[in-house]
Amino acid sequence: MFVKSSSVLLASAALTTLATLIGGGAIGAPQGKKPGSKSAKPATKPAPKPPAAADLPTTLALGKKIYGANGCAGCHAIGGQGGKSGPDISKTGADATHTTAWFEVQIANPKAHNPGSAMPAFESSIQGKDRTALAVYMTSLGGTPKLPAAGSSTAATTTTAGPAGVKVAPQNPAILAKVEKAGGSVREIAQNDNRVEVDFHMSGPSVNDTSLASLVGMKSILQLNLAKTNISDAGLVHLKGLTDLTDLHLEGTKITDKGLAHLAGLKNLSYLNLYGTQVTDAGLASLAGLKNLKSLYVWQTKVTPDGVTKLKAAIPTVNVVMGWDADAKPATPEVKKP
Ligand code: HEC
Repeated sequence: MFVKSSSVLLASAALTTLATLIGGGAIGAPQGKKPGSKSAKPATKPAPKPPAAADLPTTLALGKKIYGANGCAGCHAIGGQGGKSGPDISKTGADATHTTAWFEVQIANPKAHNPGSAMPAFESSIQGKDRTALAVYMTSLGGTPKLPAAGSSTAATTTTAGPAGVKVAPQNPAILAKVEKAGGSVREIAQNDNRVEVDFHMSGPSVNDTSLASLVGMKSILQLNLAKTNISDAGLVHLKGLTDLTDLHLEGTKITDKGLAHLAGLKNLSYLNLYGTQVTDAGLASLAGLKNLKSLYVWQTKVTPDGVTKLKAAIPTVNVVMGWDADAKPATPEVKKP
């Protein structure tokens, strides 16, 4: 259940392989490069920057996600859910000595608190903002969440942004809560840019068209990841107002040409991933007005070279990735994300 060092090594080896493939142009690069490439991973963007811990709901959401992603629940129960090899931590935040810093130490190196600790050290697997966010989440268990006193993060009340930062109006907490309840995780784009990235792909099949209604009223969403969720054409109606959107992942969803019509107003869209959907040339035609579109992924769709040629006539700068050479195509495409 928990991360052993061997699996960390494996994971990082896999990442290195992936990085090599990306570097080698196998993913997202113009067609025709590197025939024989084995990777069939759909094109994805580099991992987003860690979020600023500047705003509490975002930090708590991230902390929860890190908690879930690292198998903590295999040993610990919160509110009756989870394993029993470790103590129930539903109220661990109620202890006044359990500050954010204390939790950071507990997570990174449990032996510092208890030399005989049976809890694995997450020093190398949970770092930086992720570790802080997880610690802040721990303080919220049975207590009032405490943002770290000093250092990297700033309290929610301050309005400081870096010299080149982007500071937009904060999200409505009620809407934010709805999005998170619907399975979306919201992160700020960068430490000094509080516009957001919303990721539903971690919640996968439990996300459906109704879940997307939660997005109505969210501001300044630049990136939205709906990959491999259960959304269909009807859900895309809710994206109409997200005119700041630059990146949209729809790969592995049930959307068709009909749904693409709802994207026609997203004038800032520069990245669109339709990999593994039922989209055809007719759907591509409805994207012709997206003049900022730079990368479009249509591998394993019903799009033909003819449809691509037509789209390129409308948007000369777009790079359309149709996939691999027939002979480089693996029999069973691996579409899992790491
Ligand atoms: C293999 C089981 C195991 C895993 C996995 C595990 N823990 Fe622990 N944890 C323990 C045990 C056992 C203790 C009891 C004290 C000790 O041995 O250090 C503990 C103690 C703690 C405490 C102190 C609780 C208190 O109130 O005194 C916190 C907080 C904690 N763990 C958080 C986490 C988080 C966060 C993760 C995931 C990143 C995690 N644990 C993963 C077994 C585990």
